Amino acid sequence: MAERPDVSEFGSVDPAPPSDGLAVGKLRASLCDEEERMFQRMRALFALRNKGGKEAVEALAAAFDSSSALLKHEIAYVLGQMQDDHAVPHLIERLEDIEEDVMVRHEAAEALGAIGNRVAMSTLEKFVEDDEIVVAESCEVAIDLLNWVSSDRLDYSD
Ligand SMILES: [Fe+2]
Repeated sequence: MAERPDVSEFGSVDPAPPSDGLAVGKLRASLCDEEERMFQRMRALFALRNKGGKEAVEALAAAFDSSSALLKHEIAYVLGQMQDDHAVPHLIERLEDIEEDVMVRHEAAEALGAIGNRVAMSTLEKFVEDDEIVVAESCEVAIDLLNWVSSDRLDYSD
């Protein structure tokens, strides 16, 4: 019987197991290599997420230059999981780029909500009525999350 995929420390079952034992520089090179197989790039992505820290965040953000919307969507997702403020300007940049794939902009908005830094609020408000409904709804959710967290969770009843 096939082994079941491991649940990560983030509580998610990842589409690819993290590569292990590699330095951030190697992982970054693999993640940013447009010729590399997507499975291997995803492995590097999850390894960087698990490592954490500013250098890992910057390595992940560097791959926002990729042409793959799927990869960029996944990057935004893990940056949200990492909840590191260093990712905020990179995610704002993805959300503000109206040429960017809708899937990436939606995930950037949700990640900004998950990180919980109110610096993102004005950007989220700017796109809460975006023509792309998926982006608009994601901004609405992120705004509510930021408000919910900063209100000490008192203003919103369950
Ligand atoms: Fe998504």
